[in-house]
Amino acid sequence: ESLLFTRVNKETQALPISIEDWEKKAREVLPDGPFDYVAGGSGAEETLVENRTAFSRWAIIPRMMRDVTNRTLSISMYNQALRTPIFLAPVGMQTISHPAGELASAKAAAAAGVPFVASTVSAHSLEQIAEVMGDAYRWFQLYWSNDREVSASMVRRAEKSGYSAIVLTVDTVMLGWKRRDFRNGYSPLREGRGLANYLTDPVFCSRLPEVTPENAVEEVLKNIYHPALNWNDIAFLREHTRLPILVKGILHPDDARLALEHGVDGIIVSNHGGRQMDGAISTLDALPAIAEVVAGKIPVLLDSGVRTGADVVKAIALGANAILIGRPFLYGLAVAGEQGVASVLDTLIHEFDVAMALSGSNSVTDLNRSILARL
Ligand code: FNR
Repeated sequence: ESLLFTRVNKETQALPISIEDWEKKAREVLPDGPFDYVAGGSGAEETLVENRTAFSRWAIIPRMMRDVTNRTLSISMYNQALRTPIFLAPVGMQTISHPAGELASAKAAAAAGVPFVASTVSAHSLEQIAEVMGDAYRWFQLYWSNDREVSASMVRRAEKSGYSAIVLTVDTVMLGWKRRDFRNGYSPLREGRGLANYLTDPVFCSRLPEVTPENAVEEVLKNIYHPALNWNDIAFLREHTRLPILVKGILHPDDARLALEHGVDGIIVSNHGGRQMDGAISTLDALPAIAEVVAGKIPVLLDSGVRTGADVVKAIALGANAILIGRPFLYGLAVAGEQGVASVLDTLIHEFDVAMALSGSNSVTDLNRSILARL
């Protein structure tokens, strides 16, 4: 009941509560180009929609009379205790949502005890992000570069700056077909938004005759989409880091099997929030078969479409160890900067706590398939 009293006051009422409301507000404050870039998906946006409908095809069958006084939302991953199973997904070029960009969202994540995953194409360098986060837990997301020495260099920098895992995104061998961006003529990468990690990278800069923003944009565009990416590349990455390596963008159970065979330390079931392969399976539908293959050997995380505490319960009950959110925190960032991200996280964490208690569970590991019905 204390939740109700702390939440129902003037200050919280000034901020949106649901992600739908945050999105509506973001629509008001952002120009078309950036808003559509954030909110949109690829192709006919079928997968974007499907990511949400997949959650409504499962219903929670709550259990009663289970004494849920002493609940904990905490989990452990790679020997690290985490406050909740909620992460901020890697998102590039966050200054299109708010001038403070990643520095605001990383600070909010650190304050909430939520891991932040810094993108390769961040608007601020991974060192700058590390600095505002202090000792808070963080991962680095890698876009494999055509020039693999650039990848090795970025991984080295991440390790040196206190990042605790490398997330290799594998679903962007080409850029998804984004109709909204074509209509708006909008490309934040071309605008030079996501260059910070490149412009501060000694190996990348050594490849340029002269380091100018224009040269850098051209070079990044040449580097960033790497259609030749394949499982053998994991070995190169392994040689260059002692950190856990996760692959992000896995949807097929056979790829989960290959990930295990290649010694990957974690899988993120993701379709990039419906921004890459349109027509792809929703992540919630892809999850059970992947969880079965992995059988608890390595962590399985899920993103794409998570919007409520009940969604978090469903994903975990179907086999995820944790979830990540992308757009929800970007809407918070767009509307109210660091405070907006903090508010989105606070709401989701409290919603998840209530959903866990009302479904009859005391801990994240209690959640399982027995409390779900497929509609
Ligand atoms: C992304 N995503 C992403 N993923 C990644 O690995 N590196 C990146 O730089 C980005 N950049 C990015 C920008 C924007 C604007 C969005 C919306 C997404 C994908 C992201 O990590 C995640 O997979 C999805 O956002 C999850 O889906 P939801 O929560 O947005 O539905």
